[in-house]
Amino acid sequence: MEIRMIWALLALSAAPVHAALDVDLQSPASIKTAAKAIAANLMTYYHGLEPGQTPGILPGPPPNGDYYWWEGGALWGTMVDYWHYTNETEYNFETEHSLTFQANSPQNNYMPPNWTASLGNDDQGFWGMSAMLAAENNFQNPPEDKPQWLALAQAVFNTQAARWDTEHCGGGLRWQIPFSNNGYNYKNAIANGILFNLGARLARYTGNETYAKWATKVYDWTEDVGYIDSEWNIYDGGHVEKNCTDINKAQFSYTAAIFIQGLGFMYNYTNASPMWEARLKGLASRTVEVFFETGAAVEVACELQTHVQCTTDMLSFKGYLHRFLAQTLQVAEPVRDIVLPSLRKSAEGMAQGCNPDGTCGFRWNTGSYDGQTGAGQQMNALGALMSLLVVEEYVPPPLTNATGGTSVGKADAGGDPDVEQVVLKPLTTADRAGAGILTLLGLLGMGAYMAFMSANWGEGAKWVDNRPEKEIADAVGTHLSPPTRV
Ligand SMILES: *[C@@H]1O[C@H](CO)[C@@H](O)[C@H](O)[C@H]1NC(C)=O
Ligand SMILES: *[C@@H]1O[C@H](CO)[C@@H](O)[C@H](O)[C@H]1NC(C)=O
Ligand SMILES: *[C@@H]1O[C@H](CO)[C@@H](O)[C@H](O)[C@H]1NC(C)=O
Ligand SMILES: *[C@@H]1O[C@H](CO)[C@@H](O)[C@H](O)[C@H]1NC(C)=O
Ligand SMILES: *[C@@H]1O[C@H](CO)[C@@H](O)[C@H](O)[C@H]1NC(C)=O
Ligand SMILES: *[C@@H]1O[C@H](CO)[C@@H](O)[C@H](O)[C@H]1NC(C)=O
Repeated sequence: MEIRMIWALLALSAAPVHAALDVDLQSPASIKTAAKAIAANLMTYYHGLEPGQTPGILPGPPPNGDYYWWEGGALWGTMVDYWHYTNETEYNFETEHSLTFQANSPQNNYMPPNWTASLGNDDQGFWGMSAMLAAENNFQNPPEDKPQWLALAQAVFNTQAARWDTEHCGGGLRWQIPFSNNGYNYKNAIANGILFNLGARLARYTGNETYAKWATKVYDWTEDVGYIDSEWNIYDGGHVEKNCTDINKAQFSYTAAIFIQGLGFMYNYTNASPMWEARLKGLASRTVEVFFETGAAVEVACELQTHVQCTTDMLSFKGYLHRFLAQTLQVAEPVRDIVLPSLRKSAEGMAQGCNPDGTCGFRWNTGSYDGQTGAGQQMNALGALMSLLVVEEYVPPPLTNATGGTSVGKADAGGDPDVEQVVLKPLTTADRAGAGILTLLGLLGMGAYMAFMSANWGEGAKWVDNRPEKEIADAVGTHLSPPTRV
């Protein structure tokens, strides 16, 4: 009896009931120390500088690792913010190196041949937004012979604006870039949200009205087609065969955040126009209701009460939610009172969901670590924590070319549009036939496929959907249909 009691006491003292992140959220110094631990943990997922590895990307894409190409772009944006908020320079080399390595020299448009066959506008766009952030924060400029942050963002914007498709749904960007990909027939809010976001931010940074006109056009289209409804919900997307009326009503936090950030920049660029202000307040208020209803952020489409059914991509969305809302309040004062209390509550929940060593889980509303960690979860935790520093005086707001931003732009960046025409679009009947035959051969099996490849009929052969099965399953939607993958 006595011995059992002693054992029980020992067990209790060895396993503290409450093992949260060690942080005082009222203290910037404490936030920085905790952020350093989370960042160090996050960077253990990056192996791109090791022999035989590819710089810039997280391990993947599946089946070679968990992460798709775009998430590397998202990681480096997170690390630009990490430096910006904490003044810690220890990952600046990896960040600059990665954002330039994956740019795809000499076009420098974030469409490297290694990844074009499975490239979505949103994948390319995430790298572009991280480059834009580097320009806005005056992150260290690459040497002159390397691509520059502003020019990279312009290249992504230009190549995407050139893909604007008026043939279906009255406009809009498609999700996928190569015509033979699953999801080429889907026009989604995330791809269009990123084009809107880049347009708004380029308008503010450069003062060039052309970008603002584009941003306005993209926003209006997204609303007209019903992806943003009258209550400020933002839905996932619809198909061109249905003129985009078959709207999938799944809502994702990063889509909302990307639109809010763009709205904040349009508000700022237009010197507080009432129209942009109304949209900004509407969307920000609704976003707080949908994603912060119970305090800490919840990825409502896949983080269900009974179980989590988020893909690896979705496991990282909360980080962008926090980071993009925080940057928005630097350029748009009216959004501050709407989102700041939620960002604080959410960070409290996040801290409970971590271990003292900076390993963080996915759920932030249970009061303890759920054991579900990964690069996405670490980015989420870092995003939530460091974003609290946005109110500190030493953190400058996003700059512009007129207020000290030093990044050098190139208005016509993006490469030769003819190359894109030939490579990524269905141009000729022969191409279409090629793709159709490939589908047929896919059904007939690998032997026939090999025969087809060696016969080398037509350009279409290059554009067989060679994404791994898991990715295709994600695109078609195993849990949520249609596609929700970035
Ligand atoms: C940030 O670090 C630099 C040195 O890397 C230093 O000169 C500067 O004063 C620091 N800024 C703040 C706000 O701590
Ligand atoms: C493309 O893939 C090759 C082979 O894996 C690799 O050596 C190269 O670094 C990759 N480039 C990019 C930009 O990912
Ligand atoms: C398709 O949708 C667009 C945008 O909502 C609309 O303007 C157009 O009239 C629609 N076309 C048809 C044929 O319904
Ligand atoms: C735009 O952002 C800057 C930087 O934060 C700020 O000083 C300025 O007041 C903002 N403009 C408006 C109209 O809110
Ligand atoms: C930024 O401003 C500088 C100085 O006014 C000017 O020389 C440069 O062309 C501008 N760059 C862009 C991209 O507008
Ligand atoms: C403004 O941006 C547009 C679109 O990229 C570009 O064609 C134009 O040259 C730019 N104007 C200036 C003055 O840079």
